[in-house]
Amino acid sequence: MRTQVAIIGSGPAGLLLGALLAKAGVETVILERKSRDYVLGRIRAGVLEQGTVDLLARAGVEARLHREGLVHEGFFMGFANRRLRIDLTELTGGRHVTVYGQTEVTRDLMDARDAAGLTTIYEAEDVAIHDFDRDSPCVTFVEDGVSHRLDCDFIAGCDGFHGICRASVPSGAIQLFEKVYPFGWLGVLADVPPCSHELIYANHARGFALCSMRSPTRSRYYVQVPADEDVGAWSDQRFWDELRLRLDPEAADRVVTGPSIEKSIAPLRSFVAEPLRFGRLFLAGDAAHIVPPTGAKGLNLAAGDAHYLAEALAEFYRDRSDAGIRAYSERALARIWKSERFSWSLTMLLHRFDTMSPFEQRMQEADFRYVESSRAAQTAIAENYVGLPL
Ligand code: APR
Ligand code: PHB
Repeated sequence: MRTQVAIIGSGPAGLLLGALLAKAGVETVILERKSRDYVLGRIRAGVLEQGTVDLLARAGVEARLHREGLVHEGFFMGFANRRLRIDLTELTGGRHVTVYGQTEVTRDLMDARDAAGLTTIYEAEDVAIHDFDRDSPCVTFVEDGVSHRLDCDFIAGCDGFHGICRASVPSGAIQLFEKVYPFGWLGVLADVPPCSHELIYANHARGFALCSMRSPTRSRYYVQVPADEDVGAWSDQRFWDELRLRLDPEAADRVVTGPSIEKSIAPLRSFVAEPLRFGRLFLAGDAAHIVPPTGAKGLNLAAGDAHYLAEALAEFYRDRSDAGIRAYSERALARIWKSERFSWSLTMLLHRFDTMSPFEQRMQEADFRYVESSRAAQTAIAENYVGLPL
């Protein structure tokens, strides 16, 4: 088998890269370790920057997103039972975000890929990448017990945080930056109307809580829990009780409870690998970086990487120039680090840390009061939340 770009991983990074390359006339094969249904069963975040929506439109998958996505022109930050609205649209000169689940983005991209007759091999086992430091790399894998070899010009490592691509780089050639937070988010998905028409990010003495949604009839809620918490210790009733305790009285009153459809705990981590190119191997998406979900940046950063990488590879095939390829890492990392900073700062502002000294606690309160009183501070939050320019 041969292709131009072998893409490892069919999450949003790999699928969007494949779609953008197809538009540029570049051939791809995607190798995915799990089944299609497994990938579509993962519940992830759901806030799209306008730039991400534009990229999905460029990839030709915007129809359902425009029909079903919810346009949000602001969100709320709660602190000690007070609530502050960040007016995204007013503060950014007309920009907004779109609430549309990552699972749906993935489904739309998979459907478009199938409709275009492009190859994705699901349940590819023992995927291994070879010779990316030479001119002719290849990928080996096992499908239905049979070994295969895929020759290619380039390999795109879009295989998430636990993938094999980053792990295949010699340790001396890569530098890793990491911060692990001492807590996780316990998330619940339920078919109940959201308690607020806009998202609420709440800092409360009992810990952080987030009210989000997938549609006018489906809510997504989170509460901060210790990193080693057992999800089995959380009955639906316990979750709803805890959520209400962490919200301001008006929001708490509006919470409609119901049976959970999904309940899971996600750890919080900041992580960046440098560089993102190793000869003919590129890292993109969660394989390259992780942000804590507080700024809703994970999927949007993956989309940004896919955009930069697709441009670089399209330029290589169109103009026979490797300028874009050589610039990819630096270009992507410049934006990644800014999103890392935003996600980290919002995480520090909104969560309760057992390790916080009384001084640091006062700093957090002062930080919130400053945002409350300063249009400049709110603008800084708003311009990051709607997405920095690509
Ligand atoms: N071989 C093939 N595929 C693999 C391998 C492997 N060895 N290891 C992992 N994968 C697949 C995973 O099964 C997954 O489907 O790579 C895919 C990576 O997808 P994501 O984890 O969704 O990562 P990415 O596409 O970078 O999307 C980033 O996802 O995790 C969220 O918050 C994150 O929203 C962000 C987005
Ligand atoms: C979600 O809806 O799952 C969600 C929304 C905003 C975030 C994180 C997650 O910041």
